[in-house]
Amino acid sequence: MSIRKVVKYGTPSLREPSKEVHKVSQKIKVLVDDLLDTMYAQNGVGLAAPQVGENLRIFVIDVSTNDEPLHPIVFINPKIIKKSGAVISHEGCLSFPEAFTDVRRYANVMIKAIDRNGRPFVLEAKDGTLLARCIQHEFDHLNGVLFIDHSINRFDAEAELSKNNLPPLQVEKLLEEPDLEPEIEKLLEERVNKTEENK
Ligand code: NI
Repeated sequence: MSIRKVVKYGTPSLREPSKEVHKVSQKIKVLVDDLLDTMYAQNGVGLAAPQVGENLRIFVIDVSTNDEPLHPIVFINPKIIKKSGAVISHEGCLSFPEAFTDVRRYANVMIKAIDRNGRPFVLEAKDGTLLARCIQHEFDHLNGVLFIDHSINRFDAEAELSKNNLPPLQVEKLLEEPDLEPEIEKLLEERVNKTEENK
């Protein structure tokens, strides 16, 4: 078990699609354990293999809070099998030190994967919980997609990147998500109304 170096935005492996794992070998188990160690060392809630320079379809998540026991979840060869609803999520990423921005996410996801022992499982996360958002964020990493690609405000995201001396947004990578758009618009309106009420 060891802590690996987390690569930063601008490193090519973050934009490369990752390969399926054919066998949960000892080497894969070591990588899984290192991902967990590295995630905990950096106080992250999720970490994907491409973030340590390994383009393999593996990520780990632990959304337990400080007063709860650790609850690591390991996803190998994950597939999102259902998604619905929409939520605006304020996100960061260990590969983007100090940069945070609002992104579009589905509120509910169902995912299947295999665990560290090679056993298949299905997990459902609902209501835009941290787990639901984190699954989508980490899953994206396996396809070379980054949270800034889902940004609800390109200009805010650009400002946030430049403030933290990170490479600029790649506009051609911005994702259009027509199925989420109407619901996100509604959420944004609610947000504005709430701000008005508080004035
Ligand atoms: Ni990330």
